[in-house]
Formats: sequence, structure tokens, C-alpha cells
Amino acid sequence: MMRKFVRKAIFPVGGLGTRFLPATKAMPKEMLPVVDKPLIQYAVEEARAAGIEEFIFVTGRGKSAIEDHFDSNSELKYALLGRGKLDLWGLVEDTILPPGKVAYTRQPEPLGLGHAVWCAMPLIGNEPFAVILADDLIQADTPCLQQMIEAWQDTGGAMVAVMDVPPQHTNRYGIIDYGQQPAGESDRNALVPVAGIVEKPDPASAPSNLAVIGRYILDPSIFTALDAKNRGAGGEIQLTDALAHYIGKIPFHGMRFDGRRFDCGDKVGFIEATLAFALARPEMAAHLRHSLPKLLGGVMPR
Ligand code: UTP
Repeated sequence: MMRKFVRKAIFPVGGLGTRFLPATKAMPKEMLPVVDKPLIQYAVEEARAAGIEEFIFVTGRGKSAIEDHFDSNSELKYALLGRGKLDLWGLVEDTILPPGKVAYTRQPEPLGLGHAVWCAMPLIGNEPFAVILADDLIQADTPCLQQMIEAWQDTGGAMVAVMDVPPQHTNRYGIIDYGQQPAGESDRNALVPVAGIVEKPDPASAPSNLAVIGRYILDPSIFTALDAKNRGAGGEIQLTDALAHYIGKIPFHGMRFDGRRFDCGDKVGFIEATLAFALARPEMAAHLRHSLPKLLGGVMPR
């Protein structure tokens, strides 16, 4: 079978990030650092690892720091090289995206995630593409998007990353309906065919507790649905509602990925991510393992 490629990824970064005010008054939420890298850099690194070649950012007011972050910085370069700090320059150099392979387009108003994706339509053309939400940070041995692209080789069509959430939290996510499957089947399989999808349903009416999180492989036919600019939950133009148009037309799967997802748009999720990523760093782990029990008021380490 011929390998299928996903070459382009959209990074919607046009949201207001109100849950992080006042930090996000003048700074984009996506520039919040987890340990020493901004959230958006983790997202771009995940995309690169999955073979993405073109990076499309849908930005908004006050988001220019993101553009600067992925640009070259000759002042810093000469300062670091002049001081012999080659290792630090290496870290900075890794952030620079190749000229011609990165595009920034503005979402004039934060009208919702679906609208942000629609804003990138002219830059996508007629090919499958990925969408990555930087505030869903995923710690995984194999990057989540890479896992999805591997699975998508067999399925084609559209695919969303999914995870089981507590039933009382369905009203925070897009939730998929996996329809009629043999008993227990949906619990076992990494790939789940999507028979329905609904944004933020009440727990009482939710079709399942399988939630969509911020990784998507999309077919460009989604733009026809987004073009209608229908308002959904919360008065926003929802990506979830447009995804529903795939059902019955092209293969559409949810993929339970291997890894741990942190909701870094939320303060507690962000703190958990910071701890998890710091504990995975050998130069910090020992110190943290020593100091965390003290902070938690538990047994004092000797
Ligand atoms: P969120 O639902 O977290 O919204 O968006 P938000 O505005 O960023 O944050 P809060 O809820 O006010 O704290 C999920 C993702 O979709 C992008 C955001 O930038 C984030 O990556 N987004 C959301 C847009 O690009 N445009 C929008 O209109 C809405």
C-alpha cells in the first residue's frame, strides 16, 4: 500500500485564554512555558516528529510573540556564540522554522475553534491536514500525532484523538457516539468508528464518555461544513459540529492514543503538566522527588 502523507498542520492560537488571566492579558496562553519550553513549541515539535512540513498558525490580537518565537534572532545568536554558549544557541536554533514553510493568518475575532480552522482554508488547499491544539499537551513515548498518522495509513478519512473521561465531565468536551458495537468491543479497541459526535453534552444525555482532545487529521471537505458558519454550543462556531458532516460520507475514527494528556488551558492541568515534565527530566527529578513531599506536607525526606 502507498504511504499516505499529512504535510500541513494548523495550530489555532486565536483564543483569548481567559482562564489564565491576568497572565494572558498581554502574553499568548500558548507561550506559557512548561518547564522551559512554551506550549506551542511542544506542539510544533510533535508535528515535526510526525513528518509535518508546513506549519500554519491561526493567530489573533496580541499573539505576535508566537511569530517571534519561531523566527531567527541574530542579536541572541551573536551574543550566545560570542560567549561560547553553543549549547544554548543549539536550543534556540531548534526553534527556528524554515522560511517558506511557516504561515501566519489572523482570525479577526475569536468566534470559536471551527472558525479558526476555517480561517486557514486558503492555505490548506485540497489535501488532508492535521490540527493541533497546543493547550492539550501530551506526554508519550511516540508522539500522539505520529501514532495517529500511523493508524490513519489503514483507515484514511478523518481521525480524532480520544480519551475516556469521567462521565460527569462530558460537558467539557466534544463526545463521540461509537454506535452499535459488540459488547465490550469499544473498550478494547484503540480505533473506534465515529457514529455521532456532540459538543459538550450534559452527562445525562451524553452518548458515551469518550472525549475528543486536541489532535485531528482532517479531510478538506470539512471546509464546506465550516463555510456555513453555524453557531453551536456557547454561541461559538464549533469544529465538533463540522466534524459531524463526515459521518456516513468518509471513514471517521477516534483513536485512543498511548500517553498522558494534560489540559494546559486549565490552571491545575498546567501545574500537573509542569510537574510531570519536570519529573521526566533527569537533572530536575532527584531534587523534585526530595522537595515535593515537603511541599505536600507529607513525610519529610531524609
Ligand atoms: P479554548 O476553548 O481553550 O479557549 O480553545 P481559549 O479562548 O483559548 O481559552 P479560555 O477558555 O478563554 O481560557 C482551545 C484552542 O482553540 C483555540 C485556542 O487558542 C486554543 O488553542 N481557539 C479557540 C482559537 O484559535 N480561536 C477561537 O476562537 C477559539
